[in-house]
Amino acid sequence: MMKRTVKKASPKEDLAAKGKKVKTFSRLRGMRDVLFDEYKYWEVVNKKASDLAKTYGFKRVDTPIIEKMELFERASGKASDIITKEIYSFVDKNGEKVALRAEATPGLVRAYVEHGMSNLPQPVKMFWIGPAFRNDKPQAGRYRQFTQYNLEMFGEAGPVADAQLILVAFNFFRELQVDVQVQINSVGCKDCRKDYLDKLVKYYKDKSRSPKLCLECKKNLTKNPMRLLECKEEKCVTMRAEAPQLVDSLCDPCRDHFVKVLEYLDELGVNYNLEPFLVRGLEYYSRTVFEIWSLDDGSEARQAALGGGGRYDELVEYMGGRPTPACGFGIGLERTILKIKENNIALKEEAQMDVFIAQLGEGPRRRSMVLFEELRRAGFKVGQLFSKDSLKIQLEEATRMSVKFSLILGQKELSDGTILIRDMESGVQEIIDLNKVRVEMGKRLGKE
Ligand code: HAM
Repeated sequence: MMKRTVKKASPKEDLAAKGKKVKTFSRLRGMRDVLFDEYKYWEVVNKKASDLAKTYGFKRVDTPIIEKMELFERASGKASDIITKEIYSFVDKNGEKVALRAEATPGLVRAYVEHGMSNLPQPVKMFWIGPAFRNDKPQAGRYRQFTQYNLEMFGEAGPVADAQLILVAFNFFRELQVDVQVQINSVGCKDCRKDYLDKLVKYYKDKSRSPKLCLECKKNLTKNPMRLLECKEEKCVTMRAEAPQLVDSLCDPCRDHFVKVLEYLDELGVNYNLEPFLVRGLEYYSRTVFEIWSLDDGSEARQAALGGGGRYDELVEYMGGRPTPACGFGIGLERTILKIKENNIALKEEAQMDVFIAQLGEGPRRRSMVLFEELRRAGFKVGQLFSKDSLKIQLEEATRMSVKFSLILGQKELSDGTILIRDMESGVQEIIDLNKVRVEMGKRLGKE
């Protein structure tokens, strides 16, 4: 005989009975839950990202979310915003200084070096999707946990690599129907940048200008003059308009490389714009740098780039590997989804269900669950609502799923070894042999 159990009060009910307020929890600031309605967007962008990666020969890799802080400092640059302001770092219980990744590139470069990938046929083409963390000021499109889609190519020095990466990033948005423009510039190599920095400092140190700079730019003028080009203060933006441009200081090989990248982009029909003051905040870039801006963001686009990337020919060696040219990009998937939603871009309908199984009573429910598995294994898309007893509610669900047929199993049918098949459009019901359901459904749905 079955024992009757007395339902125990939950801890919450216990506390409530004692008149105590129960503590509830909310997300950390800048962190998001992805709930049911939004998930369909994630499926679409993830699929687009992985289809494009495969088409262009990039293979998926994953790296740990947490790594040594020193790795990030070395790769992203100690003076970058990421390291000085945004990275989540802490000393773990073993006394090691570690950090949550704020971008994928440092971990991917580490993996390339650590696993001796320079011995593989080059280029090595990596595809990566995952969460990254930045303790940024949260606002729409800027979160403390966000998801990046990265493609990185190691071991290819030619402009074809830069052009192909920009093309994939551009295609990603074009095929998701988000209107974008690629902003592109060249930051040259160490040698031409030295020449450029001299000109830049001279320009800003001029008596007519330096006193007018904002406090941050005044500091950066001696520490890291390139950062002046990224300042968002109005007076500094105005002053920048006349500043020397990087492209005018490029050495011959760097200029030649840049021109070839642009030629490829022209040929491939990529919508791009030369942005002479685009330098990007990370220290590892050399030659080509680019960002993807939404066409409908206007003046806000710079602050809300959908993606960014470029060449980093010195980083692998700097991180202990053999000299290896490399380039890549990172696209923000939350920002991509925001754009898709803002523009009301219609997503393709979810795969339609073939048939719904409705049941009445405990015995039929058990048999229906077995039938569900049989049909599912045979390749049918089957809908169900086994937690409900009411036939009305189950058939409403079947209508919502737009199935053509519902199978209805009651006690009588179960005893007779039959099942009802209901044409959902006409409402006509027929009795069929329970053992022949699979064949019958195959015939009616043209899936024999
Ligand atoms: P990044 O420009 O720092 O580049 O980030 C790339 C993209 O990640 C941004 O354009 C943006 O869409 C997204 N993103 C960045 N921060 C946030 C945030 N707080 N909330 C939401 N989305 C954000 C890099 O990370 C480089 N590692 C890209 C790269 C790869 N360069 C070469 N290879």
